[in-house]
Amino acid sequence: MSIVIAIDGPAAAGKGTLARRLAAELGFDYLDTGLIYRAVGMKLARAGQNPADVALAEQAAQSLSPDDLAAGDLRIDEAAQAASKVASIPGVRAALLDFQRKFAATPPGGKGAVLDGRDIGTVVCPEAGVKLFVTASVEKRAERRLKELQEKGLGAIYGTVLADMRERDERDTNRAVAPLVPAPDATVLDTSDLDADQAFAAALRIIGSKR
Ligand code: DC
Repeated sequence: MSIVIAIDGPAAAGKGTLARRLAAELGFDYLDTGLIYRAVGMKLARAGQNPADVALAEQAAQSLSPDDLAAGDLRIDEAAQAASKVASIPGVRAALLDFQRKFAATPPGGKGAVLDGRDIGTVVCPEAGVKLFVTASVEKRAERRLKELQEKGLGAIYGTVLADMRERDERDTNRAVAPLVPAPDATVLDTSDLDADQAFAAALRIIGSKR
């Protein structure tokens, strides 16, 4: 059976960078589950539809294709907000569950899988061998997101980025289905005062202690 590493946490806590590096280091396959929700959200947003429309969002999730995951606009902030909205709809989550579980059970490379998201350790892969909950203060996360946007040459204001981050945290944490919460057996890794290399080293130590 393939080894599964579940990495959950709020937006911009550093889990994507960490998950990608861990997968490369261990020779595992990586799945960014947020991208799936972004793809569903953007199918609606692009068509001028409301991502909170239950019937349309469920239909978009059920008809999701690999091409949708390759769309070029999935990293923009509109996609993040749309993703967070479709993600609170139970029928959307149910439609996306099989794909994620299949990837975890039979990753393309056959060795192991690293999945990152909000509910990997609690709902998608409750049997994962290693569970990390990667977090950081909302101010630190907003600072990082602002820097990322500035590096891309996109104008952004700290106050707006912070407000967006709080809005998304609130929706992801308080939704009725699969809310953002550490699994009881997850190890919490707070990256507020760690750079990417330090977070990677800490995660490797945690993984080493579990295997
Ligand atoms: O990780 P991200 O920023 O790309 O995620 C975008 C949104 O998708 C996030 O605000 C909540 C939702 N999401 C989720 O509900 N469950 C997941 N496993 C991954 C993402």
